[in-house]
Amino acid sequence: MQYRHLGRTGIRVSELSLGSWISFKGQLDVDGAAEIMAAAYDQGVNFFDNAESYAGGKSEEVMGAALKKLGWRRGSYLVTTKIYWGLFDGVNEKNTLNRKRLIEGIHGSLERLQLEYVDVLYCHRPDQTTPIEETVWAMHNIIERGRAMYWGTSEWSAAEIVEAISIAERHHLHKPVVEQPEFNLFERKRFSGEYIRFYQEHGYGATTFSPLALGLLSGKYNAGIPKDSRAGTFKMDWMIASATDKDKIAKVQALEPIAKDLDCTLAQLSLAWCLKNPFVSTVITGASRVSQVQENLKAGGIAPKLTPEILAQIDVIFGVKKEEEG
Ligand SMILES: NC(=O)c1ccc[n+]([C@@H]2O[C@H](COP(=O)([O-])OP(=O)(O)OC[C@H]3O[C@@H](n4cnc5c(N)ncnc54)[C@H](OP(=O)(O)O)[C@@H]3O)[C@@H](O)[C@H]2O)c1
Repeated sequence: MQYRHLGRTGIRVSELSLGSWISFKGQLDVDGAAEIMAAAYDQGVNFFDNAESYAGGKSEEVMGAALKKLGWRRGSYLVTTKIYWGLFDGVNEKNTLNRKRLIEGIHGSLERLQLEYVDVLYCHRPDQTTPIEETVWAMHNIIERGRAMYWGTSEWSAAEIVEAISIAERHHLHKPVVEQPEFNLFERKRFSGEYIRFYQEHGYGATTFSPLALGLLSGKYNAGIPKDSRAGTFKMDWMIASATDKDKIAKVQALEPIAKDLDCTLAQLSLAWCLKNPFVSTVITGASRVSQVQENLKAGGIAPKLTPEILAQIDVIFGVKKEEEG
């Protein structure tokens, strides 16, 4: 396993990591979660991602119980969580980054995770109704109280992040150090376009999500929706639409000869492509079973094999011209 700095912080994270969205509680109980976390940890993964809203808080409960069962040394791993959507419908409790919600939110997350602190606390989305200054102060206070080591953003615009950083610098507060954006072969424009200068200038970290586009890039939906897959299990309209998108499936099929030449699976190729981006700190993978973890964590060995020629071939398949990447 290779480790990369989380942006300009002193913390190093495994270049491939594991998240709990949908799978924890949705597909895996405490024993199942402990099993896939152990499979990842044994291969060097030190970064485990969660969010308050996943499974209505139950995903944090499952991870907390799994961690208790595993009994790892706290210094040997990082746990991250995110706040924004909230767990209740109260007027100040959902879709917000107000001070009260953030401070109450971190208390709840720590209780469910059975931890004294998380390593990164993300603002899961931007909140246009709360002044960024209020959010920055609240996140600073959370860190000062020892409830999080670092804080970050998820799917914020570059302008919002720059504003948060400059407020923090003006008042000598803890500034956000990392963004959690979607990044995969289908969704790359924002990460490789809007953010690029900003990563160069600010050295912001990037913990990227949905590297397999919910599983599509593994090729598992090429011949229909398997019953035991994410789209087959949860049957949400947007998942089915994505899993049956003919244009996307044709692109995944076009990757097959490249994967074959490299002697790897489609999932490994797609994850390796994410790893080639120098601004990525860690690629957060998802898995519903141990065999996927074992397969996916081999992507680190494939990344060095992706030559500029192969990357250009992949760009052609995905219809990306050089200037579009920024
Ligand atoms: N910040 C945000 O807003 C945000 C949003 C989304 C995700 N995230 C984070 O990013 C993490 C990863 O996102 P994601 O789960 O969407 O990642 P993904 O890699 O796009 O999809 C993971 C899913 O694909 C399937 N899969 C994985 N490896 C496979 C393989 N080798 N072969 C076949 N199928 C495979 C599994 O689902 P099945 O086996 O069930 O089909 C797995 O749960 C999440 O857990 C979460 O921590 C953050």
